[in-house]
Amino acid sequence: MPPASKGRASMKEDLIAIQSKFTAQIQATTDLAALDDIRVAAFGKKGEMTAILRGMGGLSAEERPVIGQMANDVRAALEEKLSQKKTALSKAAMNEKMAQEGLDVTLPGIRHTIGHKHPVAMITDELCKIFMGMGYEIAEGPEVETDYHNFEALNIYKGHPARDEQDTFYVEGGLTLRTHTSPVQIRYMENNKPPIAIVAPGKTFRSDELDATHSPVFHQLEGLVVDKGIHMGHLKGALTTFAKALFGDDIKTRFRPHHFPFTEPSAEVDFSCFGCGGKGCRICKGEGWIEMGGCGMVHPKVLERCGIDPEVYSGFAFGMGIDRIAMQRYNIPHLKLLFENDMQFLKQF
Ligand code: PHE
Repeated sequence: MPPASKGRASMKEDLIAIQSKFTAQIQATTDLAALDDIRVAAFGKKGEMTAILRGMGGLSAEERPVIGQMANDVRAALEEKLSQKKTALSKAAMNEKMAQEGLDVTLPGIRHTIGHKHPVAMITDELCKIFMGMGYEIAEGPEVETDYHNFEALNIYKGHPARDEQDTFYVEGGLTLRTHTSPVQIRYMENNKPPIAIVAPGKTFRSDELDATHSPVFHQLEGLVVDKGIHMGHLKGALTTFAKALFGDDIKTRFRPHHFPFTEPSAEVDFSCFGCGGKGCRICKGEGWIEMGGCGMVHPKVLERCGIDPEVYSGFAFGMGIDRIAMQRYNIPHLKLLFENDMQFLKQF
């Protein structure tokens, strides 16, 4: 049968040619992608081995087992070569990657600097702790305030110099960045009835130029006590107890008459200078006293506006500059150091 034997002979030759061609290609390959191309060229849908195996149907009954056996052997041999090469190339790739990404475990490590509590946060915690020890609770309010809470409810009427745009940051929608923590008094009294004893620490904003003692953002600690029979003596007692707890038993307090629209009477409170004990030094500029903040008896109108009957209740309030206390406590010469967040500086505390 000439056609069959021809077919048989040519298929045999084809198989031998295929085997030697792919074997050579597999041997020569140096990367995995190229190896996969060879696999597809041999065994893919349009692969040469696939074509041979498909062509088996055209062979005669006696040819088929012989060629079939041979084709199977070639397939097995090539598959074996492919898989060996694949293993070898993968291993090489892995070794190369390991060599590239290898760690020198003897290199010195990188030190990660841990964050540090800011002196203002440290002193705020300390102030709050002192007042908590005296039975006060901590309250908070928003930094962006309504005109009503920041001014109106505190008797700071339209046209009052404190509302001047040169002092106050106005925000769209008639809001302001709070110029003091006193609006927290209002918010607290709107939602809580006496007896009240709170301190409220937080950021405050005024359009001041930054210098040694002024900054557009600073911190205050507000205090508010409302109950039956509260008088000026309680205010003096509270602030004097606080001063001694903070700076030591030798500290004295002094109250100077002053004016705030939301307290009556009002005062400014000074602490005797802890630097010189009151004799006069560089810290207190020879005065012997350091101004700590404002205070007074809550104005009856303010109580009334918050729904507290001023005929029954009275209260005192105070507001102190936290930054100034931090500067004195930690001997910091310039306010800007508190706002630059220089780690070299902060790490000292
Ligand atoms: N809010 C005042 C200020 O910022 C301080 C103050 C608070 C005065 C409470 C009296 C009572 O200057």
